[in-house]
Amino acid sequence: MAEQATQSERAQIIDQLLEAEQQRFADTHPKSQSLWGEGRKNYLYGGPSHWMRRWAGGFPIYVDSAKGAEVQDVDGRTYTDFCLGDTGGMCGHAPEAVTEAALAQLKRGTTTMLPTEDSIWVGQELAHRFGMPYWTLTTSATDANRGAIRYCRMVTGRQKVLVFSGCYHGGVEEAHVEIRDGKVGLRNMIHPNGVDHSKVSHVVEFNDREALAEALESGEIACVLMEPMMTNFGMIPVAPGFNEFVREKTRETGTILIIDETHTMSSGTGGFTKTHGLEPDIFVAGKAIAGGIPAGIFGISEELAQRIWQEVPHVNPKKRQSAHLGIGGTLAGNALTVATMKAVLSNILTDENFDKMIANAERLAKSARKLIEKNNLPWHVTQVGARAEIMFSPQPPRNGADVIATRQGDLEVLLHAFYMNEGILVTPFHTMFLMCPATTAEQVDKHTEVFAKFISLLQENGVV
Ligand SMILES: Cc1ncc(COP(=O)(O)O)c(C=O)c1O
Repeated sequence: MAEQATQSERAQIIDQLLEAEQQRFADTHPKSQSLWGEGRKNYLYGGPSHWMRRWAGGFPIYVDSAKGAEVQDVDGRTYTDFCLGDTGGMCGHAPEAVTEAALAQLKRGTTTMLPTEDSIWVGQELAHRFGMPYWTLTTSATDANRGAIRYCRMVTGRQKVLVFSGCYHGGVEEAHVEIRDGKVGLRNMIHPNGVDHSKVSHVVEFNDREALAEALESGEIACVLMEPMMTNFGMIPVAPGFNEFVREKTRETGTILIIDETHTMSSGTGGFTKTHGLEPDIFVAGKAIAGGIPAGIFGISEELAQRIWQEVPHVNPKKRQSAHLGIGGTLAGNALTVATMKAVLSNILTDENFDKMIANAERLAKSARKLIEKNNLPWHVTQVGARAEIMFSPQPPRNGADVIATRQGDLEVLLHAFYMNEGILVTPFHTMFLMCPATTAEQVDKHTEVFAKFISLLQENGVV
């Protein structure tokens, strides 16, 4: 073990180690590297989506196939996948039930702007599972949030959306704000978007009761849009009683509460909401809900539905309808999405599979914690349901400010590049691990071995 480096030496060493890992990655991924070179000629950011450029190797792997919890790249290398498409693949890759349902539906037509019989079962199951009586399907979680916000503005007559600093709710611009150095501004790395945030957004720190109460009492907030614990800025656990406090204050001030469970749906069959007995007015989810086919959903309470129907009544069948809501895309709720959603809800996101997924997340978190303790490292692991996160700070953050103050971005990139070289994928934005029903205890143990190797690498080089 080397003597521990000073702070400036440390940054330099991490840089050198990253360079070595990226070289190792380039040497072993010639085909992906060459495809990336080609992709840059025709895609604005190299790949079909700008998210795909965020991988720590220096360029992304190009996928040949993905099955269960494994991904195979075009260079013939296999990865254990804990990223799972940043949750879109939480059902596992190419799960049989979804594949069969999709193939069958593809042969019978995918999009007619008419409902299929499957949609009846899906609506009943969503209501039963997530506790909301009335549902709308969209093509993404972003769109579900957008639709939900639109209804909130419609019934409250207010414009502002309250979010928590460090949040991410997709392409919803109202949420692209944060508090940094005590000042409200555009979220780090998000560039000017033409939106006057002083009119449409309000941002406070997570778990801050006083700031939340003060904002809601202004009477300007249409809705609170929140994850029931934060998962997009590392994992920020919710303080005991905070969700209940938000509920109480939103009710008191006539503010609508949207709980976005796009990620926390990994907590169990009814999401975090059911597991913790929460009472949102609107429940949002997406990503994995149709097993990897693009889809979002939002469910609305009885009381809110009544208010919406007062504004926009049901169709009068005797009159031509010219008014439209402009909510959701043309392909929302199409037959393919509905068929795959049915397969997911009936066969994949079941109690039995959640038990397995949660046990594996606990196993990963427990082994990582053991290594952290054994090596006396100032790091921690958070695990909620089928999801776990390693963060390079001694305590779980209480809010976005804590993450900003303690985050070690350079060490995260190094870890992620190291993982890729050792055959592990984690979400590139922070160190989050997600389990799918196909994830095995052996795959989790492989992570433990690789994580131990990473710690040794840092020790040998005096980084820790
Ligand atoms: C909590 C949450 N909501 C919404 C979204 C948006 O999902 P999509 O990009 O699939 O629309 C995300 C994406 O990461 C998310 O984490």
